[in-house]
Amino acid sequence: MTNSKWLQLDEKAQNILIKNDRGGFTVPTAGLYPYQWNWDSAFAGWGFSTFDIERAWQELESLFAGQWNNGMVPHILFRSNDPDYFPGPDVWGTEQCGPISSSGISQPPVAATFVRAIWEKDKTIGNNRLKKIFPKLKAWHKWFMTWRLTDRNCIFISHPWEAGRDNSPDWDNAMNPVGVGKYTRRDTSHVDGSMRPTQEDYDRYLWLVQRGRKLKWDEELMSVNRPFEVADPTMTFILLRASRDLLYMAEALDVDNIEISEWCSTLREGIETLRNPDGGFFNAINCRTDEHSGNITSASFLNWYAGIDDDETLKILTKTLEETRYPIPSLSINSEKFDGMRYWRGPTWVVLNSLVGIGLSEMGYIAEATLLRKRTQSLILEKGFAEYFHPLNGTPGGGDSFTWTAAVWLAWASPSNGEY
Ligand code: GLC
Repeated sequence: MTNSKWLQLDEKAQNILIKNDRGGFTVPTAGLYPYQWNWDSAFAGWGFSTFDIERAWQELESLFAGQWNNGMVPHILFRSNDPDYFPGPDVWGTEQCGPISSSGISQPPVAATFVRAIWEKDKTIGNNRLKKIFPKLKAWHKWFMTWRLTDRNCIFISHPWEAGRDNSPDWDNAMNPVGVGKYTRRDTSHVDGSMRPTQEDYDRYLWLVQRGRKLKWDEELMSVNRPFEVADPTMTFILLRASRDLLYMAEALDVDNIEISEWCSTLREGIETLRNPDGGFFNAINCRTDEHSGNITSASFLNWYAGIDDDETLKILTKTLEETRYPIPSLSINSEKFDGMRYWRGPTWVVLNSLVGIGLSEMGYIAEATLLRKRTQSLILEKGFAEYFHPLNGTPGGGDSFTWTAAVWLAWASPSNGEY
């Protein structure tokens, strides 16, 4: 890639972040996702930190402005009511729970890791900001350890949207909705239905929202006879990684770190229980039935990001890199459920690539990390800043001018970041 080519892309990516800025927070993309999403915002902050540190902090701070009294940071903050999105604030019914109208569930906690990255870029600006946001990050992690820890010591999700991998086949066998009633989806008016979750998936999403609403989003009440509880590698690896970063920041701030250090040990222990007994890879487990999903997803490769080396997984990753032109597919291309354009059932999401790539390089797998990063560069160069891409031919899917794809370009994929 020539120098001028990638500098042009850097500029384009910056403009996407600026265009998706709604005044101190970004939306993932105009139209399809008109509000502030949790992990999208954390990625956006990471992206902003490459050209505007002040704006990077603002992004994270605006996300934590929506933190609930119980510590949870919601997966969507509805700062306005946009009738073009469903299910909006009136469907969630969380009025009593937090300072900003929001959804009632959370999303993968990548925030602490990106806060650390932003802080380390410029500590003279960052020290004070870190001091303020640190207790909020800690309260959120505590919420996960209190309300989302399974007895296997890994993290479960209470709704498919919580994992950020909405329609992954990991949840296929984990629930049976009844009596959802009539509703109108809005997502399929923005992008083709063949790229979105099915109607059956949507019934399940809504059914769980209706249950939460009925129970007033009270975690204590919701924990009784949960109809959906799936131990998830995305959440477990990401929370472990983020807790390690939190621990590092606690030490730098010279504040008590015992509890955080215990969380890290607990999660470290839990990881092994996610291993599929037949395939050796890390997968999701339906906690109601103890059934392993048997799916190799992009989340199966997050172990290095969490600081865990694993030979079995390395073999599978090497094969995946060999057989896929634009890795990493969100579901193995050899799965019978593989569907290259349907959201989390096959497409490549560059956000996951960046996390896996960071982990690989940190643990010394430079060849694999470089390959993954170079393929991600070509993908974005050839196909643009789409929401996700077909892993075999790179066809762009979902929304366009996507915030987190631009952010990942700026903070990780762009050659402007140098070599590993
Ligand atoms: C979809 C994705 C989720 C993301 C959101 C906004 O729901 O599955 O991970 O946060 O869109 O981009």
